[in-house]
Amino acid sequence: METHEPISPDTRAILGLHLPTDPRWVNLAGKSLEEILSDHAYCEQKAAVSCISLIQRYNQKEKLVIALAPIVTEEWGHFRLVLAELQKRNLKLGLQRKDAYANALFTFCQTGGAEEGRLLDQLLMMAMIEARSCERFKRLSEGLGDEYMRRFYRRFMESEAGHYTLFIELAETYIDKEKVRKRWQEWLEYEAVIISKLDVRGDRIH
Ligand SMILES: [Fe+2]
Ligand SMILES: [Fe+2]
Repeated sequence: METHEPISPDTRAILGLHLPTDPRWVNLAGKSLEEILSDHAYCEQKAAVSCISLIQRYNQKEKLVIALAPIVTEEWGHFRLVLAELQKRNLKLGLQRKDAYANALFTFCQTGGAEEGRLLDQLLMMAMIEARSCERFKRLSEGLGDEYMRRFYRRFMESEAGHYTLFIELAETYIDKEKVRKRWQEWLEYEAVIISKLDVRGDRIH
């Protein structure tokens, strides 16, 4: 198991995350911009696709559909921004890597039972991914050597923080706030275990 420094009080207060990303992750990102931009590009694509599939699955939930429709555009816009950075630098969009983190989160989602519980988990998984992306972008915005890239990630950080709150608020639109809060705590605890077991490249869980 990796050892982790405590998460900064700021980040914890905003996002509730229990553990920070392994600090070596930023160093690694600095070394291979092509890899970090490619991974990032796929994260944005997946975010757009996940929002579309929520809209398709919950077409009757008007507030959800209306709230997520612009997020699809926004996430796809993020993908295009990342793609433009790759092109500008003559870097290639690499292959999509296996996302051990997202796969592990997926296994925590309730698949049976009442629809309410399944909807709650899907929204909280999205909130979790957004919160962790926000924390990673914050690290990149502070840790990357290049001033332009630090600013680039600062903008993403702000945008993903907004998405994290949107998914929590959407959950509270349909489900009792107390239930949302309780389940979110369980998600935070589970996610901390995943982060503590994730290798620095994010490929594997020990
Ligand atoms: Fe995004
Ligand atoms: Fe997002």
